[in-house]
Amino acid sequence: MTKLTRGRELYRGKAKTVYATDDARHLVMHYRDDVSAFDGAKLAQLEKKGETNNRINAFVMGRLAAAGVPTHFVRLENDRESVVRAMKMIPVECVVRNVCAGSMAKRYGVPEGTKLAEPIFEFFYKSDALHDPLCNDDHIRVLGWASAKEIAEMKAITHKVNGVLKPMFAAAGIDLVDYKLEFGHPVDDPDGPLTLGDEFTPDGCRLWDSTTGEKMDKDRFRRDLGSVIDHYREVGRRIGVPL
Ligand code: TMP
Ligand code: ASP
Repeated sequence: MTKLTRGRELYRGKAKTVYATDDARHLVMHYRDDVSAFDGAKLAQLEKKGETNNRINAFVMGRLAAAGVPTHFVRLENDRESVVRAMKMIPVECVVRNVCAGSMAKRYGVPEGTKLAEPIFEFFYKSDALHDPLCNDDHIRVLGWASAKEIAEMKAITHKVNGVLKPMFAAAGIDLVDYKLEFGHPVDDPDGPLTLGDEFTPDGCRLWDSTTGEKMDKDRFRRDLGSVIDHYREVGRRIGVPL
């Protein structure tokens, strides 16, 4: 592929900035050092976060693509940037949980760390202002956020990702507790297969050391446990990311 020229800023999220390129089918995703939690209420900057997450995401997206999951990832561009396909995103977050933690533990009063007999799938409506409320298939379909077919595909692909990443992390001595995915359609193929967008990094999942139970994900920031990026990089090194 020919070299792309980065154009104007299209969107500034809480941790990434998206830029247009001279090719309407592609965007540049820039990973900043910003970290946020609680829907943007808690903000900080962490040295090396951008390059760490950019590399971890590239590695994981590569594994998922190799397993047959369509993703928006095209290539690593430089330390902090990757080229992705331009997407029209569905405004929901898809979560699969293998172990009870976080909002599920709070919502149902089930202790954090309770192993689940089978993975549990949850949808959340993507809205910081509303604090990403839990929602179901009917909310998504009737309110027009996605079709019944897309809902079925989001569930199927998110479960399939568990089948790829749970053993990958287990082999690195890490339990994949839960994770969040976001989907959409490439703008140049709106009727094509549902495609994984956004990112897979320790910002959007829970990863616990299999032996010690130590948290290695963004809960270190949410809960003020310290050494956030050291743990992200340890996750990366263990799964084979050159960090
Ligand atoms: P939760 O326990 O807060 O619902 O989060 C479940 C998983 O989804 C956890 O790994 C964090 C991730 N997540 C995000 O990445 N962004 C979000 O906005 C939310 C609500 C969860
Ligand atoms: N991703 C959300 C935020 O940054 C929620 C979280 O991770 O706690 O605010």
